[in-house]
Amino acid sequence: MKVPLLDLKAQYKTIKKEILKKTEEIYESQYFILGPNVTDLEKDIAAYCNTKHALGVSSGTDALLISLLTADIGPGDLVLTTPYTFFATIGSISRTGATPVFSDIDKGTFNISPEKLQKTIDSMSETDLSNLKAIMPVHLYGQCADMDPICEIAEKYNLVIIEDAAQAIGSEYKGKRAGSIGDFGCFSFFPSKNLGAFGDGGIVTANSDHNIEKLRKLRNHGSHPKYYHKMIGGNFRLDALQAAIVSIKLKYLDTWTKSRQENAGKYRELFNNAGLDTAISLPVEREDRHIYNQFIISIPSKRDELREFLTDAGIGVEIYYPVPMHLQECFKELNYEKGDMPVAEHAALHTLALPIYPELTEDQLEYVVNKIKEFYSK
Ligand SMILES: Cc1ncc(COP(=O)(O)O)c(C=O)c1O
Repeated sequence: MKVPLLDLKAQYKTIKKEILKKTEEIYESQYFILGPNVTDLEKDIAAYCNTKHALGVSSGTDALLISLLTADIGPGDLVLTTPYTFFATIGSISRTGATPVFSDIDKGTFNISPEKLQKTIDSMSETDLSNLKAIMPVHLYGQCADMDPICEIAEKYNLVIIEDAAQAIGSEYKGKRAGSIGDFGCFSFFPSKNLGAFGDGGIVTANSDHNIEKLRKLRNHGSHPKYYHKMIGGNFRLDALQAAIVSIKLKYLDTWTKSRQENAGKYRELFNNAGLDTAISLPVEREDRHIYNQFIISIPSKRDELREFLTDAGIGVEIYYPVPMHLQECFKELNYEKGDMPVAEHAALHTLALPIYPELTEDQLEYVVNKIKEFYSK
């Protein structure tokens, strides 16, 4: 049996007619850049995330970058963030000229730990503290970071909050949607995300009128009015085709999310029945809405052997992420060392993502768990 990590063709089959009809209309109109399809999506996403505004952009990476630029983050500034994330979180901070300051993660959720965050701040010099301008929590794998204490810290030190919600559209923290809690919410429509385009795309959510107007100008080279530039922006525009496709998919998102949650529930049951729930750790799910962009298990030993065994058995698995950001070669001038972020470093060595996409069948889920059981009984 084959169980891919993700099966986008299966999803496409279910919405193909609608997509072809809509994209055909766009081909006929020859209206490809921004326009009504993008505006419609922005309204729908703002409503979905419960924010006043949303602005379509070219990718999740650009959503982060343009939010940092809007918040005037630049050279000399410091931004607190997690070492355990996709590169784009840290890459965007660095590209503004600001410096990322890492703070270790929580062992259960893999999200930034608020307790450690306070300790990180306490260890900073007066000068560094005066340069600290923002915090960028990541809602990893589809579950929100513990935002109440993060917001308290942000208020205490006057920090802008930029939520990296690239993996977390529709996830909730105490009833609040991801992207609606901080000053900016940054989402990715990369095809493998729960709400994916047919190419690159992203969106920024915000409640402030001032921020959305600045984001809008920066999205289009800082131009306002046309050909007059008071600020330097870039081409961060979302195109009409991607926006239209994402709009169609958005209608199905809650159904797909429900299936992902059900699959997570079935995994828990199957692992439990197989007696494996103590041998490996299953994802820690808090009471809030987890949307399972990923289903991550932790394995005390032989993670790489298990990965190879499952790959050979036709099961798609992945390591998110094998090298924490503070140990990436391109950030060596930040002077972090092995041992500085022990929880993130442990996660990089002991975690594995299993298939969790909505179209998985019961047989496929059983096959995955049976194969893991077989590995352990060897
Ligand atoms: C946590 C996180 N941040 C940022 C991004 C960047 O999004 P994109 O690939 O759309 O640029 C991703 C997507 O892979 C992500 O997972």
